[in-house]
Amino acid sequence: MATQGAAIVLAAGESARFRSQCPKVLHPIVGQPMITYLTDTLRKLDLARKVVVVGYGRDQVIANLPAGFEPAVQDEQRGTGHAAAVGLKPLGDDFTGTVLILCGDVPLITEATLRRLLEVHHEEGNGGTVLTVKVDDPAGLGRIVRDIDGRVRKIVEEADALPAEKAITEINTGTYAFAAGPLRRLLSQLTCDNQQGEYYLTDVIELLQTEGYTVGAVRAEEPSEVMGINHRSHLAQAEAIIRRRINAHHLKNGVTLLDPEHTYIEATVAIGRDTVIHPGVTLRGATVIGEGCELAGPTRIVDSTLGDGCRVDTSVVTGAQVGPGTTIGPFAHLRPGTVLAGGNRVGNFVETKQCRAGKRSKMSHLSYLGDIEMGEDVNIGAGTITCNYDGFNKNKTKLGDRVFIGSDTQLVAPVELGDDVTTAAGSPITGNVPAGALALARARQVNKDGWTARQRAKHKGAGNGTGKH
Ligand code: UD1
Ligand code: CA
Repeated sequence: MATQGAAIVLAAGESARFRSQCPKVLHPIVGQPMITYLTDTLRKLDLARKVVVVGYGRDQVIANLPAGFEPAVQDEQRGTGHAAAVGLKPLGDDFTGTVLILCGDVPLITEATLRRLLEVHHEEGNGGTVLTVKVDDPAGLGRIVRDIDGRVRKIVEEADALPAEKAITEINTGTYAFAAGPLRRLLSQLTCDNQQGEYYLTDVIELLQTEGYTVGAVRAEEPSEVMGINHRSHLAQAEAIIRRRINAHHLKNGVTLLDPEHTYIEATVAIGRDTVIHPGVTLRGATVIGEGCELAGPTRIVDSTLGDGCRVDTSVVTGAQVGPGTTIGPFAHLRPGTVLAGGNRVGNFVETKQCRAGKRSKMSHLSYLGDIEMGEDVNIGAGTITCNYDGFNKNKTKLGDRVFIGSDTQLVAPVELGDDVTTAAGSPITGNVPAGALALARARQVNKDGWTARQRAKHKGAGNGTGKH
């Protein structure tokens, strides 16, 4: 396509129908703001200028624009025709190339479709070319009115449509290619003499013909690609469409998804071959899953790396690096800064945070392990707690290789245990322990013979001491 082309994305609307504080174009679809789908697609076209018309929540929208996209502020939302005029301004009056106009709330459009629209527009030498689609239910959308020989005559908004026009099922997708010169001139001639009292960009289609320009149409094949997102139900539909696109990609690449309809993978995630994913698994952000892993849901893994052959069941993993052959869960919570070297085990009801573990170290049951660094082949007994926070500072626990932490040990940080240390079950460890030692920190047990019988005799009539009354 010619390099003098420009694109204008209309994204100033408030969208009352969304009932949201957040600008509509920033609502995420599979973890990515709606507008990012459009900016990503537009970046693939060779366009000289890319303008985004912003208004409602402008600062937030501007903050989400990638480099190369210029905002144009529409102070008052007076309709798509007014928005298009605002978007043309920064291009300058001498800009005469082709202008693509897109709606920020029609985000799933593909590069191929846009190229086809531009191609037809240029080949036919049109003043304007609109992207249309046939739908089962055209409710709420602009209808494409064609004349007897099939040429597009005008676009009629639903609110202004006659009954016969309402029956038309070919609709305006809100995506167009225009010649900049006539577009600029005709936008300035628009009136808001319609049911909604707005300046309609769609009116330009009819006006072009009164000035002798030809108008064309390209029909999109797949309605889902050009759907407008006007309600949250549309957002859910778009979510499903994108999810299917992503999941199809992984299925093709050798990943098994037992139930693709219930597997939630963001576009940023990479997964190795022969990994098996059960229903209810969510993989988000900068996550990399190795080969031959098995993930069983409900599980959420965010911004984390898992090596080959890991197994995760019913767990939450965020900001963690997990070495190969590690087993996690069920019911484990790996928090940011968890770095496991490989061959590890993190069992049920174990929470880790800033926890580094050498190879094959295991923490199998009911533990909190925060701000801890442990060597290889360490065994953390059930119920071990790092007391890492004294109300002011986070303090560190260090364990050497082959340390054996007895069940129900409290590691009161800062504390350091050398290689091959053993701690006795139930010990609060408050001081450092040299390599090879046993640390025993609890009162010695005392047995009092016959104590129970004496107590029962003493309390006769007031209960028998067995708990039965
Ligand atoms: C618009 C079209 C309709 C088409 C539909 C496709 C018009 C008059 N109607 O209707 O023919 O079928 O899209 O989805 O164009 N916007 C602004 N400033 C404004 C008004 C709107 O930037 O003053 C932006 C909105 O943020 C939105 C886009 O333009 O991204 C479309 O506006 P919207 O109000 O959603 O138009 P529809 O009623 O959907
Ligand atoms: Ca819309």
